[in-house]
Amino acid sequence: MKKLNEYMGEELAKAFEKAGYDPALGKVVVSNRPDLCEYQCNGAMAGAKKYKKAPFMIADDVAANLAGSRVFDKIEVVKPGFINLDTNKDFLAEYMREMESDPYLSVTRAEKPETIIIDYGGPNVAKPLHVGHLRSAIIGESIKRIGRFMGHNVIGDVHLGDWGLQMGLIITELRVRKPELPYFDDDFTGEYPEEAPFTIGELEEIYPAASARSKVDDDYRNEALEATEQLQNGKPGYMALWNHIMKVSVADLKKNYARLNVEFDLWKAESDAQPYIPAMVQRMKDEGYAYEDQGALVVDVSEESDTKEVPPCMLLKSDGASLYTTTDLATIVERMKLYDPDEMLYVVDKRQDLHFEQVFRCARKTGLVKDTTRLSFLGFGTMNGKDGKPFKTRDGGVMRLENLIGDIEQEMFKKIVENRSVKDTDAENTAKVVGLSAIKYGDLSNQATKDYIFDVDRFTSFEGNTGPYILYTIVRIKSILSRFAEEGGSEDGLVILPAINESQKNLMLKLSAFGQTVENAFDEKAPHKICAYIYEVSNAFNSFYHETKILSQEDPEVKGSLIALLALTKKVLETSIDLLGFSAPDRM
Ligand code: ARG
Repeated sequence: MKKLNEYMGEELAKAFEKAGYDPALGKVVVSNRPDLCEYQCNGAMAGAKKYKKAPFMIADDVAANLAGSRVFDKIEVVKPGFINLDTNKDFLAEYMREMESDPYLSVTRAEKPETIIIDYGGPNVAKPLHVGHLRSAIIGESIKRIGRFMGHNVIGDVHLGDWGLQMGLIITELRVRKPELPYFDDDFTGEYPEEAPFTIGELEEIYPAASARSKVDDDYRNEALEATEQLQNGKPGYMALWNHIMKVSVADLKKNYARLNVEFDLWKAESDAQPYIPAMVQRMKDEGYAYEDQGALVVDVSEESDTKEVPPCMLLKSDGASLYTTTDLATIVERMKLYDPDEMLYVVDKRQDLHFEQVFRCARKTGLVKDTTRLSFLGFGTMNGKDGKPFKTRDGGVMRLENLIGDIEQEMFKKIVENRSVKDTDAENTAKVVGLSAIKYGDLSNQATKDYIFDVDRFTSFEGNTGPYILYTIVRIKSILSRFAEEGGSEDGLVILPAINESQKNLMLKLSAFGQTVENAFDEKAPHKICAYIYEVSNAFNSFYHETKILSQEDPEVKGSLIALLALTKKVLETSIDLLGFSAPDRM
């Protein structure tokens, strides 16, 4: 279905043409003076030069042709040549009815659906999820959902970090602690045990211990480097250990992501790229791209237009071990082979931008992707504490994601029990649902590339531009609708009629922008646009609610129309929060 401003633009284009001007001048935009009008067209000013005429005269000619238009109520020319416009109430009501019957609420879905792989999450196995991984999960999940709503085939891949030094460190530490395990016995020929020799709790303690020791103990570090290389070369005992580490970690990660309402289609890992490495490296050598530099194998990716140095892309270290760049390149090979996507989008901390610049350049230069395959990087900013520094625990340690979620839920729980309308049994679940909205909205309402301050008090507030405020608005609508039902009303067959007051009309105008908002959010990979939009819709709804009798409305048709508009508002808001990756409770 058409957008509201497309309908308007068409009217204007016709009016310009009829008056002998270029129809392309008939663009309509939301008014920047909402006190004067709802929409405006500035085409007369643009045409003044071309037609050597005062803009006011052009605007007058055009306005004359708009008289009697079903789309506008008010057409007013103001100096120097603006055409100020208000929507016609019948037309707007008709548009609401059209939106109601469109399952995509006026979003124009992709004509040619694309295959898009989103690489997000990016946790490292055996290391606890920390807040650094939170943003990737939240932003990536939202973009995935928006892309699907647009009709694309979007594949979310968690891309586990499981092939680097951290694995060698864990293996080395285990060897120090439990040297008797069969994984360390080179002569062992039997079956390795089914059961992992550690729990997730132990694993999470082993990694930091190993990492700390490797920084002060060179022999230990060298052992870990060697273990990493042996693992990458498929040493059976280490592969068996690696399997245990993966199993134990992945089970824990799945639990954590489920709590965040984040779901991946693929649980692929860096190690999955390993089989593609040898042939890829060989080809880069054969075709003259890769050369040796101080023992390491590299590909030059600098370009003449570079204003700052882009160092060569490292393929293999001097000991032959693969690196972060190697697995990322080989993963591109794998993805091309298995999915041949139109785009690969990486949602990763923006501090990794140089890494991705190198990987993308190398992939293009060496022909790992087609000319048409888009490689894109959405680098996000840091989540800071109130002190403006990267978020930490009270004692300065790395904040575990679980604890952060727990803190928010607790705070929400406190606020919800203060609100006596909810029975205690519900409060805990409600706190979880609302808490998630606080975290996600707090994150997504900022432009992804910017740093932001994680402020528990602000994010959990029921007032202002927050997740709980949006949910509060939805819950308010739900409760009116259920009271309507309790009083014997039915939502079937209700017809949205022209607005009975300004605040209702304003709500309708806001709702009509849904399609454009979602399309923009997708094009610009900007979920924050949806946040800004639902904040406006919620404000418009709450003003309408305060100014309008709804359930006590006497005229049954008017009442029915208001109820139908409530239902549409609820659908727009619920669809939007689903695109952001959270949901609303029934009460709060
Ligand atoms: N595991 C990485 C990290 O924690 C993030 C992975 C991002 N994705 C990728 N394809 N490199 O920094």
